[in-house]
Amino acid sequence: MLPTTALDDRIAIVGTAGSGNTYTAKGFVERLLDAGARVTVIDPLGVWWGLRAGAEGNAGYPVVVFGGRHADVAITAEMGAPLGRLIAQQALASVVDLSELGSNAARRGFMTAFAEAIYEANKEPLHLVFDEADLWAPQRPIKGWEGLLGHIEEIVRRGRVRGFIPWLITQRPAVVHKDVLSQADILITMKLTSSQDREAIGAWIEGQADRQEGRRILAELPRLRQGEGYLWAPGHGLLERVQFPAIHTFDSSRTPRRGEQPAAPRTLAEVDLTAIAAALTAAGTPNPDEPAPSAGRRLADLERDLAAATQRIAELEQENRDLVGRLEQIVALAFSPFGPSGLKASEPQSVIPPRRVSRPRPRASTDHGTGDNVQGAARKLLIAAAQHAPGRFTWGQLATLAGLKPSGGHFNAGRKQLRHSGYIDETNNLVGVTRAGLKAAGKARPAASTPAERLTLWCERLPAPAPDILRTLAVQGERSMLADELATALGKKPSGGYWNSGIAVLRNNGLIETESVAGAGRRYRLAVLLRS
Ligand SMILES: Nc1ncnc2c1ncn2[C@@H]1O[C@H](COP(=O)(O)OP(=O)(O)OP(=O)(O)O)[C@@H](O)[C@H]1O
Ligand SMILES: [Mg+2]
Repeated sequence: MLPTTALDDRIAIVGTAGSGNTYTAKGFVERLLDAGARVTVIDPLGVWWGLRAGAEGNAGYPVVVFGGRHADVAITAEMGAPLGRLIAQQALASVVDLSELGSNAARRGFMTAFAEAIYEANKEPLHLVFDEADLWAPQRPIKGWEGLLGHIEEIVRRGRVRGFIPWLITQRPAVVHKDVLSQADILITMKLTSSQDREAIGAWIEGQADRQEGRRILAELPRLRQGEGYLWAPGHGLLERVQFPAIHTFDSSRTPRRGEQPAAPRTLAEVDLTAIAAALTAAGTPNPDEPAPSAGRRLADLERDLAAATQRIAELEQENRDLVGRLEQIVALAFSPFGPSGLKASEPQSVIPPRRVSRPRPRASTDHGTGDNVQGAARKLLIAAAQHAPGRFTWGQLATLAGLKPSGGHFNAGRKQLRHSGYIDETNNLVGVTRAGLKAAGKARPAASTPAERLTLWCERLPAPAPDILRTLAVQGERSMLADELATALGKKPSGGYWNSGIAVLRNNGLIETESVAGAGRRYRLAVLLRS
């Protein structure tokens, strides 16, 4: 799918965790190794050593693994510069596995020295593959580590004449430095869900393709499957949605399943290490004339570690807030009887969750039961509660009975007013009308809706398959149905996201009663509110 000449371009592979970005890159690295290219993979997670073994129990490629749990040659945090020089001077294929270096400061310290040394010493073509590239070239430079970003930028932007062919792999294109990502000649994008990440590659796409096509592709990215991606090589006239093929080497980044013994490859390719180990040891042996790292330097390292950790915590907190915000939106949509269409298209879809407002405790009313102090939505909610007294409802149900959308400013204001009025009593998330409330609503109390009317009302407003489930249960009246029986009646399977979301919407709105039956699963019955 990608011509061999394209493998000498700078390639960026992006995709959310587990989407297959490392795996796809391995497929391309195997092609480089088949062609006898010089390749070095910078592997902070310890997932590349599998290149040494074949996928079928056969031997893989004679790649030297420096560092990590499967090291041919162990490394320490101080070996960055000697290893950089060694790789620059030898015709090697190697993996530099940083996963066992202990701390991020140690990894960054190693990479700073490595990148500087290899940049100085390299002359021949060398593919340098940076997995988790955002660690080395973050969009927001980490205090104290600006030098590292500078060296990586040098390799990526100005390293061509010194033979460097950088490939960048990342889960989070939004947090990779733009000046680095923008250098890619070829973009491979696997599944991407976050809007910031899609925006980040949107900038790349805009420079290469027409806007409409770019938008169409960005919109497809959240739905790509594992191992599937868009391959975009403008210089080769290529833009394709591709299912990337299986690799030929041992899958050492596979997600382990619970209870599974990790498989270990049986045969490793032979590599001649004696000369390499000797050269590295010589280069890395501390010079007795040089002073050992001082306590001051160690303290500076620790301080940089701390600054980086603090920054990461702040980033994680922000990501967490974004996630909570998005989750709240999803839950609100899934459990709203109005479904997604109930939201106006123009409503800003903020990802920042609203601040929690503490609920005021209901106060006794000073009003003497005229009901004039509740208006608008509050009044509608009160009347609905009074019409259906002594029934108790969730706020969502009450809103629907009152003909209101159970979210948004109008509803919230009404609920707040009512909570302060003393006309309702709220226990266990169910709302009922008080004596004072009944009296207050008394002046205008048209007939209550019938169960059949309420059923129609809900069915109109619930997302599929909830209305079908509800109507099927309604036919049964008081009788409950086992999940299997209910699903069979609807020609569906009682499992999977579609079915479960239907049941969850009904349960969360208090429209069905559920009960587990030993050995037979769950059974469902229409809630009293809807029974005739
Ligand atoms: N094209 C594919 N064909 C078959 N299996 C695949 C494919 N792509 C990915 N996988 C499977 O998914 C696993 C995870 O993929 P990979 O290691 O590439 O994750 P990743 O995208 O790099 O995630 P992270 O960002 O967390 O490192 C692989 O080890 C492999 O088992
Ligand atoms: Mg990966």
